[in-house]
Amino acid sequence: MGVLKVKNIKWSIDGANILNGINMDFKRGSVHAIIGPNGVGKTTLGNVIMGLDGYRDFEGDLVFNGRSIKGQDIYQRAKKGITMAWQEPARFEGLKVDKFIGAGVKGNKGKAVEDALEKVGMNPSDYFHRAVDKNLSGGERKKIELASILAIEPKLVILDEPDSGIDVASLQNIFNAVAYLKKQGTTVILITHSMEVLKHSEYAFLLCCGAVLKEGSVDEIGPYFENRCLPCEHVNEPEKNGARV
Ligand SMILES: Nc1ncnc2c1ncn2[C@@H]1O[C@H](COP(=O)(O)OP(=O)(O)OP(=O)(O)O)[C@@H](O)[C@H]1O
Ligand SMILES: [Mg+2]
Repeated sequence: MGVLKVKNIKWSIDGANILNGINMDFKRGSVHAIIGPNGVGKTTLGNVIMGLDGYRDFEGDLVFNGRSIKGQDIYQRAKKGITMAWQEPARFEGLKVDKFIGAGVKGNKGKAVEDALEKVGMNPSDYFHRAVDKNLSGGERKKIELASILAIEPKLVILDEPDSGIDVASLQNIFNAVAYLKKQGTTVILITHSMEVLKHSEYAFLLCCGAVLKEGSVDEIGPYFENRCLPCEHVNEPEKNGARV
């Protein structure tokens, strides 16, 4: 059953058309990939779904559990269980890891924080009292952000390049976390340009120049992406795909 429907979304800035009429249907408890080369609009679409400032003025509609969420801000969407882990994870000077991860947890925060850190392969006692600031490495912040998502048990999560800055050993922790989210019924959207991440999804949307070029199983989309999008066939003639002009 569809949990989120993206209906003909168009978004532009300073006269440049970045999203050119995107339609997508995300199924409850499934892992989806949005794949495409640099600059095709993947993060922009994530920002639009999340309702970030500057990304709420779009054409089309966003329907979550049968109701439009267009116009709702990030807090209203977060309350509905929609969340996102950013391509560049945020820093919060002075905020301790346990407070950060425990912020949205109802009930036993200590236990939830510990469980979440273990799920992303981090030893809780090493990190509990560290601050979520520049002293954590990029990969550590990325995993801590994912732990914060696991702790709140969201309905829908967008993970923007969950593998960036993550070493090979830790990558398996990220995929385990994705499997855990799926098991608890969370709808997962993985934004990526990695074949490795693509393999961990069940259904893929291939973005090209702000539009869905193809969608289907990973077996269909994977080889097409590898052979025809790297390098991108439209890079010098984006208008062929109805893209930004
Ligand atoms: N707020 C903004 N102001 C100006 N340009 C923007 C803004 N948001 C997005 N863009 C532009 O939209 C295009 C798509 O950007 P986006 O970040 O969505 O790409 P992406 O597919 O996530 O790429 P990558 O793989 O490099 O992360 C880029 O040209 C980007 O500069
Ligand atoms: Mg991006």
